Amino acid sequence: MYNTEIEKITQNLIKEEKIDEIKNSLAIKKAVELILQDEVVAFPTETVYGLGANALKAKAVNKIFKAKGRPSDNPLIAHIASDKQLPELIAGDIPETVKKLIKRFWPGPLTIIFNKSKLVPDITTAGLNTVAVRMPSHPVALALIQKVNLPLAAPSANSSGFPSPTKAEHVYNDLNGKIPLIVDGGICNIGVESTVVEIKDKAVNILRPGGITKEMIKAVLGVNYQVETVNQVEVKTPKSPGMKYKHYAPNTPLWIVKKDNINRVLKQKETNNKKTLLLLSHETLNSLDLDTVNASVKDIGSIKDLGYIAKQLFNLLREADQNDFELILIEEVPNKEIGEAVMNRLKKAAVKII
Ligand code: TXA
Ligand code: MG
Repeated sequence: MYNTEIEKITQNLIKEEKIDEIKNSLAIKKAVELILQDEVVAFPTETVYGLGANALKAKAVNKIFKAKGRPSDNPLIAHIASDKQLPELIAGDIPETVKKLIKRFWPGPLTIIFNKSKLVPDITTAGLNTVAVRMPSHPVALALIQKVNLPLAAPSANSSGFPSPTKAEHVYNDLNGKIPLIVDGGICNIGVESTVVEIKDKAVNILRPGGITKEMIKAVLGVNYQVETVNQVEVKTPKSPGMKYKHYAPNTPLWIVKKDNINRVLKQKETNNKKTLLLLSHETLNSLDLDTVNASVKDIGSIKDLGYIAKQLFNLLREADQNDFELILIEEVPNKEIGEAVMNRLKKAAVKII
């Protein structure tokens, strides 16, 4: 057990990207000290909070898996703060397509899969011969990685299976006692994780949609490249509640509802008898006769601003759990731009889509 400390970094330093001053903060000093002792530390990135440790040290990375309760077959992302940290992690040359993506999107929420070097221990990559690398753009993440001068393996800093943390408080709720330090940098701007891509010649396979959208990648590479999201997730209704492999999920059952079905779903016996939270877009909410709705209703933002919905998503799911709802219904959002990442997370978290 640890006595989990929370150390705040001043918001002004973050807004003004004063990386050198952030490096001199007490929070970063403590974080560096702990990481050099092979401990894990939670820190903010522009996507979600990460749980970081020395990516090159098996003993340190093992503590990440332990604190999160993460299955050991799920590989981690190595976070770097400079191009100079890339060569030691990877084997072979960097393909031209990858160079283009790095130039445009790093630092930022794009994770790229490379062949791994011998320096990266098997535990970091879950035994794969590839390694996922990203350079976050959050000034606190950059300050920490620069100062400790090591690549940091960092999954999202939630307990395995739960919604990712977008504030220090979320990390504390999940990992209090399990880690020594949370560096508090306020709310994460993007709110969903990085996009994970694998590149083969002129094909970019999106393994996980995220902060850098398919549309953004296509715009950089042009029409001669094929950019596709692979492994599209489907909602699988579990045969028994315990059977579902939980991911991003609140404890309360979550259903995704298509806009046209909302009225019908609310009238079903199955929903009508339950204490239900209805998470709706601004547009749908305005078109609904609320007097006829037997549920608590919350506005998730306009479908014209999918970035806002993404930023709020995990916080909404966590908040919904704090009240004693028996069912959460959330409206489907357009599966484009960052909405693709939102739908990907919702489909993994939901037990039903209607
Ligand atoms: O935005 C993010 O990426 C956050 C912040 C903290 O940087 N991190 C994050 O890590 O989301 P995590 O561990 O929750 O998700 C890592 C994803 C998983 O889907 C994992 O399967 C995939 O990256 N991944 C990691 N290494 C891989 C590899 N070698 N090949 C394929 N997928 C890999
Ligand atoms: Mg995660």
